[in-house]
Amino acid sequence: MNIAPNTVEAVSVVGPGRVALVSGGNRGIGLAVCEALARSGTRVYLGCRVPEEGAAAIARRGIAGATPLALQLTDPGSIEAAIARIAGESAGLDALVNNAGVSRGIRDAPGTEPMTKAREAFEVNFFGAWQLIQHALPLMRGRTGAHIVNVSSGHGCVAKVQGNNLGYRGSKAALNMLTLAFAHELAGTGIRINAMTPGWARTRLGGIGAPRTPEQGADTILWLLQGGGGHGGFYKDREPFPW
Ligand SMILES: NC(=O)c1ccc[n+]([C@@H]2O[C@H](COP(=O)([O-])OP(=O)(O)OC[C@H]3O[C@@H](n4cnc5c(N)ncnc54)[C@H](OP(=O)(O)O)[C@@H]3O)[C@@H](O)[C@H]2O)c1
Repeated sequence: MNIAPNTVEAVSVVGPGRVALVSGGNRGIGLAVCEALARSGTRVYLGCRVPEEGAAAIARRGIAGATPLALQLTDPGSIEAAIARIAGESAGLDALVNNAGVSRGIRDAPGTEPMTKAREAFEVNFFGAWQLIQHALPLMRGRTGAHIVNVSSGHGCVAKVQGNNLGYRGSKAALNMLTLAFAHELAGTGIRINAMTPGWARTRLGGIGAPRTPEQGADTILWLLQGGGGHGGFYKDREPFPW
């Protein structure tokens, strides 16, 4: 499902003059997104819980144009401070990538998954992303083609439910619902919002057995930011994916 895909101006927000914030930018798929954006000339805020780790990632990859930004999604004050810093340093925000995520219950069945794991998944993957959008939106209004990309998961797809990791699955299904709800709220504002799944990628979350590189996982995020897709959609490999 797409919300009014033909009435939304899908333009690229990648390149010089554009400003992006990527949560969880210090490693994995988020770092691959930051690197590609920075190399295109986009000014990138690399959201990270530990700024030193963000700075180290930037130095290791030699990414000019990326700035580490302290961002702890379970701390509302940290979210507020991160957005305030961008507001103080930039004219606005063109791209928000809600990439940070946790998945703790891969071996846990719904009957035994500890609530601490499930609650953490919802705090980061759902409430953290939601609150970041709420704070970022004022900076995105009026920016041509502004775009929010929510990094979801095939595990959030209700058509493909399996048993384990209910906290993670539920948080990503909720992130998909959030995408649709905001798509309705933002219709007509010129701000796009979409969800995507990167597929199974070799990161700390995905594990070493995954077939995709972080860069391959990042591809559809970058495609969306370059003007691909519609508004209120869910994508994998640049194609619509079932909710
Ligand atoms: N890899 C896959 O196979 C796969 C498949 C489907 C979906 N995804 C999704 O892709 C996204 C990126 O995952 P990844 O595979 O790149 O995982 P990753 O390498 O484990 O990276 C996760 C990122 O999220 C950050 N993070 C975790 N908790 C946070 C918090 N409370 N506040 C702020 N940042 C926090 C981490 O920061 P720290 O370094 O400080 O921990 C890290 O930067 C996630 O949303 C994930 O659900 C991944």
